[in-house]
Amino acid sequence: MNKKRPLSHDVDLQGRRVTIYDADDIENMRSAGRKAATVLDEITPLVQAGVSTKKLNDLIDGFMRDLGGVPATLGYKGYPASSCISVNHVVNHGIPSETKILAESDIVNIDVTILDNGWHGDSSRMFLCGDKVPQKGRKLVDTTYDAMMAGIAAVAPGRPINVIGKAIESVAKPNRASIVESFVGHGVGLIFHDSPAVFNYYCERDTLTLEEGMIFTVEPMLNAGRKDVKILNDGWTAVTRDRSLSAQFEHSIVVTAKGCEILTLSPMGYTKPPYPV
Ligand code: MF3
Ligand code: CO
Ligand code: CO
Repeated sequence: MNKKRPLSHDVDLQGRRVTIYDADDIENMRSAGRKAATVLDEITPLVQAGVSTKKLNDLIDGFMRDLGGVPATLGYKGYPASSCISVNHVVNHGIPSETKILAESDIVNIDVTILDNGWHGDSSRMFLCGDKVPQKGRKLVDTTYDAMMAGIAAVAPGRPINVIGKAIESVAKPNRASIVESFVGHGVGLIFHDSPAVFNYYCERDTLTLEEGMIFTVEPMLNAGRKDVKILNDGWTAVTRDRSLSAQFEHSIVVTAKGCEILTLSPMGYTKPPYPV
C-alpha cells in the first residue's frame, strides 16, 4: 500500500493552484534553465553598437536550436519572435527589428525562453552596448540586478510570497527607482506562464506560503522615472509613459528546503554588466 503522496502535485492555497515539482521535474528544469542561461552567455559578445535587434534575435534562435530546444515565445499568443529585446525606455516585450540598430549609449534587456523537452527555461539580463552609457543608465541596471537578487534571497519555504516584492522595494526605493506594477513574475515549468503571480512590489494581502518544490521567476522591472507604462500599437512593446529608462533582470528559481536554487545562473559567470568578454 503506497500512501506516499505523489512528489509532483498541486497544492491549493487561498484558492490558487500551485504545482509542487518532484526531483525529476527539477532536474528537467535545471536543464532548461541552464540552456536559457547558455543562450544569454552566447549572445553576450555580440550585443554591441551597430547590430540590429533582429540579427541578435536570429542568432538566439539558432543557439536555442543548436542546444536542442525551441524558442517558446515564437507564436506564443501571436508573439512574432524568438526573443524579446527591449532597449532604453522599452520596459519589456520589445519585438526584434531590422531597423532597430543598437547604439553605444543604449541599455538593452534580452529575454529568452527556451522550450527544452517540454520544460521552459526563462531568463533575461541587461547589457550595456558600449562605453557611452550614461551614469543614470548604469546605476538603474545595477539597482535592478540588486533588486532581483534581493527578491531571490528572500525566498524560503514557510515564508509568504510577498517577501519577494518587499525585498525588491527595499532596494528600489532608496535608489529612487520606480517599480513597474503591471507585469509580474510567474510560475514556470511545463506551462510558460503559470500561477503563482510574483509581484515586484509589496502586496500586503498576497501571503501565499512558499513551499519546497515551487518553481517561478523573479523578474522585476525598474524605471528611472515614473512607474507608468503603455503598450504600443504593435500590441506587445511596453514603454515608460515618461520615456524614462527601464531595466529588468529575470531568473527562474526553485524553492528548496533551506531557501532557493537559481536555475538560470550563467555558466560563464556573467551576472551584471559590464560582462568580461
Ligand atoms: N519571457 C517573458 C517573461 O519573462 C515573456 C515573453 S512572452 C512574449 O515572462 F510573448 F512576449 F514573448
Ligand atoms: Co518570465
Ligand atoms: Co522572460
